[in-house]
Amino acid sequence: MKKVVLMGLLLITLKVQAQKFANMATTPPMGWNSWNAFATNINEQLVKETADKMVSSGMRNAGYKYLVLDDGWMAMQRDSKGFLVPDPKKFPHGMKALVAYVHAKGLKFGLYNCAGTETCAGYPGTRGYEYQDALRYAQWGIDYLKFDWCNSGGINAEEAYTTMSKALKKAGRPIVFSLCEWGDNKPWLWAKNVGELWRTTGDIFGCWDCAENKGAWYAWGAMQIMDKQESLYPYAGPGHWNDPDMLEVGNGMSEAEDRSHFSMWCMMAAPLIAGNDIRKMSGQTLGILTNKNVIAIDQDSLGMQGYRYKRLADSVEVWVKPLAKKNWAVAFLNRSHKGQSIYYNWQKEIVNDTVHHRILDATIHKYSIKNVWSDKVIGNTQQTMSSIVAPHDVLLLRLNY
Ligand code: GLA
Repeated sequence: MKKVVLMGLLLITLKVQAQKFANMATTPPMGWNSWNAFATNINEQLVKETADKMVSSGMRNAGYKYLVLDDGWMAMQRDSKGFLVPDPKKFPHGMKALVAYVHAKGLKFGLYNCAGTETCAGYPGTRGYEYQDALRYAQWGIDYLKFDWCNSGGINAEEAYTTMSKALKKAGRPIVFSLCEWGDNKPWLWAKNVGELWRTTGDIFGCWDCAENKGAWYAWGAMQIMDKQESLYPYAGPGHWNDPDMLEVGNGMSEAEDRSHFSMWCMMAAPLIAGNDIRKMSGQTLGILTNKNVIAIDQDSLGMQGYRYKRLADSVEVWVKPLAKKNWAVAFLNRSHKGQSIYYNWQKEIVNDTVHHRILDATIHKYSIKNVWSDKVIGNTQQTMSSIVAPHDVLLLRLNY
């Protein structure tokens, strides 16, 4: 009897804690977001053209399914009942019709708001309107909410994001909840049951390794963001991802840099949210964004985030990511300005991943090695590998068991 009562209490407690919808984002979310390329210069036409291009370019079929409008979609005032209103000049046919257009393309629709009183760009924030805004998103058919942290005036982050999470749940429509408080309050320690992904850093900037002074704050290049996110690998998994911010592929870095940036985001099981103007992207950019072998590393069903295994000489880093079926992804990233030769003896490099409980030991098992970008089998782990990696480029391998 005692046992039954205890069981009942346990179930009640579990029910209270389970704020999220189940089985959302079992692999890292993929999509497109307006911010990196357009800031607040967004409108209905852009959304429709982007949705069309996501389909015709093959992005949707490669896995990019969320089309997310970031800051700047709202009118400056709520309506007389307190509901958010889309900017009537930018979105003359309203949000519901636009969402229907995007849904009809086989895509999902995301919006942005903020836990503070105003968004980062000064539009109406959600603070005090959590349940009302969630209701409106559900009525519009929204599938994804990015929730920012500007103008939050010292409120408690865990409480603020939990309130919004509960509001979404209450509104009844499964909505992926993307926390964006830049890692300030260590969401990896408390947000697993609050949302599906959480930003771990400040904003990304489309450069390889820079810090861009924005006045009161800095935006960071791809390498800087990667370094900030690396140590958080124990906290990611199916349904709860570390988010090192959106992609800058196609936004001005070199081809090698774009390839490395994309590869490393996949190694980190990062959400893959394209941030370029896909209506005008080059074939090269599209080729990087839609490479199915590379995406398969990101979307691997185990959902384990890769990490830096070691640094070789001359700024070459070796990263490893356990994959399903005892396979591994291994990346050799050349951060230096010079081409680098690599000699790598798999027999001597035994990876004991004590966080994910996985071992890569080529003395016990012979793996075949595939170059992921060229899609060619290049040998096996009984041979010492020698290769040259161009500056800022990556050698991305898949070791098949
Ligand atoms: C913050 C976020 C960005 C973007 C802008 C919008 O800086 O971190 O990703 O959403 O706000 O104003």
